[in-house]
Amino acid sequence: MKLLIAGAGGHGRVVADAALSSGRFSQVAFLDDGYPSLNIREGWPLLGKLESMSSFLGEYTMLVTAFGDATFRLKVLTRALELGYVCPSIVHPAAVVSRHAFIGAGSVLFAGSVVNVGAEIGRGCIVNTGATVDHDSRLDEGVHICPGAHLAGNVKVGARSWFGVGAAARQGVSIGADVMIGAGAVVVADVPAGKTFVGVPARELIK
Ligand SMILES: CC(C)(COP(=O)(O)OP(=O)(O)OC[C@H]1O[C@@H](n2cnc3c(N)ncnc32)[C@H](O)[C@@H]1OP(=O)(O)O)[C@@H](O)C(=O)NCCC(=O)NCCS
Repeated sequence: MKLLIAGAGGHGRVVADAALSSGRFSQVAFLDDGYPSLNIREGWPLLGKLESMSSFLGEYTMLVTAFGDATFRLKVLTRALELGYVCPSIVHPAAVVSRHAFIGAGSVLFAGSVVNVGAEIGRGCIVNTGATVDHDSRLDEGVHICPGAHLAGNVKVGARSWFGVGAAARQGVSIGADVMIGAGAVVVADVPAGKTFVGVPARELIK
């Protein structure tokens, strides 16, 4: 099966690697606004700019979006679904995912990640390398759990929020939408929408 990946940056290349490693896809190709000059180190083909997405429908039926910016990732995902692409989730074979977890359209789970029983991952989410999402936690659309970050059980993370590299959250906390949790933070209480929290225990970053 062939997979089209929108976004050919570092994150997109990790998505490609996970997709091919999963054995579910035999070929990947990219769309990126860096076309035609962008050179993809691994030699995977770059077919065109994002605006050409509709012209590959048919030759490709499956597409995932691979942009770090959550709003943009979700915008392109919505467009792809409207056009009629199937947006699969991509799960690296070294990820451990409970059969009782829900993974939304276009979400990606990288090597070493763990998604435990009863967890719900919304569409367009990233559970990055070595990150864990424990039982009954819920990620709304576009959430990014960065490498090596850990959510204990029953944690809720609102749409488009970033949970920084190596950060952790105590069980049961709720994190609002559009939140940034800094690298290495430990979240021990609820975090309101739109805020940046850092440190141990995590406190609002006020600049
Ligand atoms: C929290 C964060 C978003 C703040 O970024 P920023 O708004 O650009 O902030 P600055 O770098 O200007 O730092 C502002 C202050 O916060 C402090 N700070 C920044 N990040 C911090 C963190 N993670 N923990 C504790 N303090 C932090 C800085 O030391 C600085 O303090 P000072 O004013 O006393 O010098 C960012 O540092 C961060 O941690 N991002 C997560 C990155 C990540 O996980 N990437 C993974 C990609 S896959």
